[in-house]
Amino acid sequence: MADLTATIAGIVSPNPFWLASAPPTNTYGQVARAFDHGWGGAVWKTIGQPIVNVYSRYGGLDSGTQKLIGLNNIELITDRPIEDNIKEMALVKKRYPKHTLIASLMVETNRDAWHEIVKRTQGETGCDGFELNFGCPHGMSERGMGAAVGQVPEYCQQITEWVKEVSTIPVIVKLTPNVGDILYPARAAKRANADAVSLINTINSLIGVDLDLMAPLPNVKGKGSHGGYCGPAVKPIALNMISAIATDDQAGSLPISGIGGVSTWRDAAEFIALGCDNVQVCTAVMHYGFRIVEDMIEGLSNWMDEKGYKTLADFKGKAAPTVTKWENLSLNHFTRASIDHDKCIGCELCYVACEDGAHQALKLVQKNGRRLVEVKEDMCVGCNLCSLVCPVPDCITMKHIPNGAPDVSWKEFSAGKGTLAERPQHYVDVSTQTEAEAAARSDGTTT
Ligand SMILES: Cc1cc2nc3c(=O)[nH]c(=O)nc-3n(C[C@H](O)[C@H](O)[C@H](O)COP(=O)(O)O)c2cc1C
Ligand code: SF4
Ligand code: SF4
Repeated sequence: MADLTATIAGIVSPNPFWLASAPPTNTYGQVARAFDHGWGGAVWKTIGQPIVNVYSRYGGLDSGTQKLIGLNNIELITDRPIEDNIKEMALVKKRYPKHTLIASLMVETNRDAWHEIVKRTQGETGCDGFELNFGCPHGMSERGMGAAVGQVPEYCQQITEWVKEVSTIPVIVKLTPNVGDILYPARAAKRANADAVSLINTINSLIGVDLDLMAPLPNVKGKGSHGGYCGPAVKPIALNMISAIATDDQAGSLPISGIGGVSTWRDAAEFIALGCDNVQVCTAVMHYGFRIVEDMIEGLSNWMDEKGYKTLADFKGKAAPTVTKWENLSLNHFTRASIDHDKCIGCELCYVACEDGAHQALKLVQKNGRRLVEVKEDMCVGCNLCSLVCPVPDCITMKHIPNGAPDVSWKEFSAGKGTLAERPQHYVDVSTQTEAEAAARSDGTTT
């Protein structure tokens, strides 16, 4: 059976599934219960000068019947006294010595303040590492902390250096995605000798407007504030930033803890395939509870067995080198939609999507008393849209269409190398259409 042991910056956990610093890691009771369910590690809810929270803190984004594809919050760091957090962290570490416990820290930008919290936390909790919260985009950033640090590479570097001066355990820098280019703060962390980075923290957002109150959500007595966005909807943003760091010539050697929309073992495998050493989860646990880790462990383990991966290292970063610039993609690799009419339920969603939203490459035909969607081979540009909207699994698949032409990228072609395979016209020449042909197209009947 696959060995799920995960190591990041020398910190060893029974598996790669950590709880991210957030409400699920607020208390001893929660973290202990999470470890009982199988979580490999937990990053404690950020400690610092305790704050006061507002009531009403979260806003959700639903999609149809799917609740909480995105979650927005205006909560701050822990509102519990430092002493209480430290006592409970020490108890967790004592009772769960094999599980990973990380202390997340955020204090004012002052060397003494950072030295004090680092020394105290490592001395009194027995935690395995630190995570520096340079990411919170709301509230704390207005006070010069969180994202206000993460957005300025010089501050990231400076504070990480202060922490490294006194820390005797690994230091993970948690990055904010609220920047133009994630490489700058990641490189700053590297220059400061951080042991790893974690990303992403939440994305600056305003989740919605209450149209009766005419005020933003979540609502605090008629007013709202921008907050941090997370959950399944942010996963693509996290993956993109992680792949940028993993392949960077300067920051690329930093171990990465991947965060952002991880809800299933498959998500975790994708993060690891792009170069992460482990993953952290917040929204999925806030939605479904600690028990989801059981499926995550089983699913990842089964998949690794199927693929013949014995350890996480066997596939870590395997997909990273395949992420490249657009200019390096082959211009001569053609694909085309193919519809399995035995599976098709005739909903025609693909037809509408392609006709109105893509390349008018599907047609409706009458065959054997059945109305069918067929692909117009010369019009299909292989964009994938029909297969994305089709509700039936594997009903529309994209097939490679060999053209005999050697691959050529834009970079090569624009430098005078290689030739482009001949492309069909793809678009209808309306100037040659009769009135009847044009009318037939626009009312969706067979052309
Ligand atoms: C309500 C809430 C509170 C959070 N508090 C913290 C925090 O105190 N420290 C921190 O580093 N991140 C905090 N986060 C961010 C999460 O740790 C994580 O980076 C983010 O939610 C993305 O992961 P997800 O998509 O799995 O939720 C918080 C997130 C939420 C939803
Ligand atoms: S979307 Fe899928 S199921 Fe619906 S008509 Fe198209 S191929 Fe058939
Ligand atoms: S792949 Fe794109 S162009 Fe081709 S049929 Fe589907 S939606 Fe139309």
